[in-house]
Amino acid sequence: MSWVSEYEYTWLERTIMRSLRACAHIPHHVAFVMDGNRRFARSQHIDKIEGHSMGFAKLADCLRWCLDIGIREVTTFAFSIENFKRSSEEVEGLFNLAREKFCKLLDETDRLNEHGIRIRVIGNIELLPLDLQKLIALAMLRTEHNDKLFLNVAFSYTSRDEITQAVKTVLELGEEGHLTGEDISERLLEECMYTRHSPPPDLVFRTSGESRLSDFMMWQLSNSVLYFTNVLWPQITIWNFLGSILAFQRDRSQINELKRSERINASHLAKSTNLYSERVQGFLQTMDTNRRELLLKLSVST
Ligand code: FPP
Ligand code: MG
Repeated sequence: MSWVSEYEYTWLERTIMRSLRACAHIPHHVAFVMDGNRRFARSQHIDKIEGHSMGFAKLADCLRWCLDIGIREVTTFAFSIENFKRSSEEVEGLFNLAREKFCKLLDETDRLNEHGIRIRVIGNIELLPLDLQKLIALAMLRTEHNDKLFLNVAFSYTSRDEITQAVKTVLELGEEGHLTGEDISERLLEECMYTRHSPPPDLVFRTSGESRLSDFMMWQLSNSVLYFTNVLWPQITIWNFLGSILAFQRDRSQINELKRSERINASHLAKSTNLYSERVQGFLQTMDTNRRELLLKLSVST
């Protein structure tokens, strides 16, 4: 199963997709919380890992729909740090599935490059087995020149950990870069998150009837439209997806209003915190260089 499926649209689906794309405002960034894989597996009397594998197939359909409707950035919650508490059999099964999918991705880099898809894994990957870290690093490096669709895979991720890591970065690198108390701001912390290069999601889509965020992108979601459906992730259809786009459009004017006021706050913050001082720029550059060097080191590890 490829990362972008060859989904075959019916005439009606294609027509609605086209007219939505042509006439309506499409969210720039959509985040998916793929929940309900094990309940689906239980209902079908199949193994849980088979349920997760069918969940991946659904993600590949979603990526196809997102590409075709004009969404530019997708973030998907694939493995929470909380998931380490599951049975070792399930955790190992999920890692094997991820190994298989990242190997597949490396095999089909040409196809991803054709679509212009850049993969970024967001999360604390140092908690993962080294061979998986290496596959992740290779996937990120081999697609780093693409810029048509950004796919962020949250793997070994929680928001609390992301914020904690951002604070550590400020403390550890900040000392070297001689940051002062004046340089520390919301904006600076935001720049230290894994999502540094992404705008916040416009829409979050969560399945399986759970209306919670489960420690997912809590920093980034303050103004996002939240869309919850009772359908289990492996069972979603293009109609659920289109339903979420319509819900986004309905709430859009409200969001725009909020964003307008946020922009005013943001420009106010930027002025008052020296985010663009040479010192801060140097710090951010060092952080980016260190992060890329870590990927390069992992990509040649044995
Ligand atoms: C949540 O359902 C799903 C997960 C914890 C794993 C999702 C992972 C995939 C679909 C594979 C993705 C792999 C890559 C490489 C992108 P659940 O297990 O919480 O199910 P439940 O809510 O029914 O218990
Ligand atoms: Mg669940």
